[in-house]
Amino acid sequence: MSLENKEKFEALQQVIDELRNEPGALMPIMQKAQDIFGYLPEEVQNYIAKELDIPVSDIYGVATFYAQFNLEPKGKYIISVCMGTACYVKGSQQVLDKLEEVLEIPAGRTTKDGLFTLNATRCLGACGLAPVIMVNDDVYGRLTPDQIPGIIAKYRQ
Ligand code: FES
Repeated sequence: MSLENKEKFEALQQVIDELRNEPGALMPIMQKAQDIFGYLPEEVQNYIAKELDIPVSDIYGVATFYAQFNLEPKGKYIISVCMGTACYVKGSQQVLDKLEEVLEIPAGRTTKDGLFTLNATRCLGACGLAPVIMVNDDVYGRLTPDQIPGIIAKYRQ
């Protein structure tokens, strides 16, 4: 185990020790574990399961049910596609479809090169610009699907 990983597991152990006797400790422990590791790799799920003496399938179930948990590392660029009402009626589904096609991943996943994570999200608070996507902190509004390849190309450079 690398030193960095060792420190992360020590931090996780501390969190578990602090919270293990609290009711409903699993979610906050998983949240903190994700803060520490950036996502919830299998070895971390196994570790939490062992420490809390629960089946790892319980942890996997929670991790896949709640959108805030990631089972794989996030990409360098997080693409958030607004699926709020205003964006939806202006064609955000087609924008999402185009992103899935260009990136060759479904929503919720990360490209193999680790560059992009694609997420469908709730209202991003820029409804006047519908349909809207964000790439990290950059906002793109009034989008049409044919603009997507150009936007992605910019970040691939
Ligand atoms: S509905 Fe998309 S920004 Fe509000």
